[in-house]
Amino acid sequence: MKKLRVGMLGLGTVGKSVAEILIQNQSWIAGRAGASIQIVRALVRQTRKRREGAASKIPTTTNAQDILDADDIDIVIEVMGGHEPAYGYITQALKRGKAVVTANKAVLAAHGLEIAKVVQQHHAAIYYEAAVAGGVPIIRTLRHSLISDRIQRIRGILNGTTNFILGLMEKGEGYDTALRQAQKEGYAEADPTLDISGADARDKLAILIQLAFGLDVHPSEIPTEGIGSLTPEVLADARQLGYRVKLLAIAKRVGNKLEARVQPAFVPFEHHLSAVLDIENAISVDSEALGTTLYVGPGAGGMPTASAVISDLIEAAQQQGVKNAMSLRSQRTALKLAKPEAAISAFYVRFLVEDRPGVLAAITRILASNNVSLAAVLQHERGLDDEPVALVILTHPTTHGAMSKALNKIKQLPILHGGLSVVPIEEQRVTKVES
Ligand SMILES: NC(=O)c1ccc[n+]([C@@H]2O[C@H](COP(=O)([O-])OP(=O)(O)OC[C@H]3O[C@@H](n4cnc5c(N)ncnc54)[C@H](OP(=O)(O)O)[C@@H]3O)[C@@H](O)[C@H]2O)c1
Repeated sequence: MKKLRVGMLGLGTVGKSVAEILIQNQSWIAGRAGASIQIVRALVRQTRKRREGAASKIPTTTNAQDILDADDIDIVIEVMGGHEPAYGYITQALKRGKAVVTANKAVLAAHGLEIAKVVQQHHAAIYYEAAVAGGVPIIRTLRHSLISDRIQRIRGILNGTTNFILGLMEKGEGYDTALRQAQKEGYAEADPTLDISGADARDKLAILIQLAFGLDVHPSEIPTEGIGSLTPEVLADARQLGYRVKLLAIAKRVGNKLEARVQPAFVPFEHHLSAVLDIENAISVDSEALGTTLYVGPGAGGMPTASAVISDLIEAAQQQGVKNAMSLRSQRTALKLAKPEAAISAFYVRFLVEDRPGVLAAITRILASNNVSLAAVLQHERGLDDEPVALVILTHPTTHGAMSKALNKIKQLPILHGGLSVVPIEEQRVTKVES
């Protein structure tokens, strides 16, 4: 039987699970891959670190060239993370004719185009199922199963940490407590910025956009808002109105434009994405012939992510010698990224206002003059004398540009106390105006 020798860049959470699965299931993996696969060595930061289980059996090195330049390595698995040196190592491996399997969304999102060029020039191959939504097989689905169809829209919950935090906030926890709980459970990093700010979901969306729509988008071009400014009051309002708040990554074809954004959004209870709870990830794909399909499952964690890495490894083994760079990316398209202000949504807005006559009229006048019409108004119970009161409005669909113009004017009204919360509504339920 053919032998394939693997070099690993990284032997952390994902790396050690890859080793575990490969070593424990050697014979059936060999059967499926058509080759026996052996991990030769792994690059780590500290060779002296105590490693358990299968990882303890793998020789380690701190010199990347022991893997990238090694003649006894055919395939490189990059599971070290970060931009550099990972990006440099990936391109070096490809240039030396080694197939690369990576879980690194940050590198792929920022340098996908350059990597594709290297892949093409060197007749190499790169596989990245684990880079988006961990164990959920969305990359292969877009590359193979949906290749026959024209994709119209993708909506994803691509970050389990924020989904977990939003779940706790929906139960009344404050943002800080919910974040601490996520860290305690091991779902959030000590520095959770990439998750909370939406940057992690944005990187994954950029990768999906290339595959689904053939558009090369740099992550910095995708308007991105995280969950940091959401309050338990907003989540309680959402619940009362029949919605859950989800951090959604959205890409949608509108004519010859592609709308793309990452933003918290109200999702109705009855919508399939609303049922995605805790750390799960989900991607809802609308395509012309097939209609809507949903892909849901564990978006992170050593074993789920390693399962995606191993599936790539088996594909890489099966495809040795059949190197076709373009199969890993979509053909380029004439689509252009839409201006963020042209996107259309209904909105939820929560104001803290003086409790006196004329306040609602002042707000609705500004909304109307910007072509924003009301779908519903909710006035929370009055507090003590002179205390501001929460006023909630739901609008009909309008452009993000019109909404932001109206809100900028409303913010100047003296009746407003403090900031306001504004969240787009993804698929509005029917609600009546109460005023
Ligand atoms: N964890 C998940 O659930 C998950 C899910 C999907 C995708 N991913 C992606 O998978 C990749 C790996 O994530 P992970 O959670 O496994 O990371 P991790 O636990 O931090 O492990 C990183 C590994 O890489 C090694 N390493 C890091 N920087 C290095 C450097 N400059 N030189 C040499 N070795 C270096 C570390 O060595 P030491 O062991 O010596 O420290 C460690 O073995 C990332 O791209 C991540 O985004 C992770």
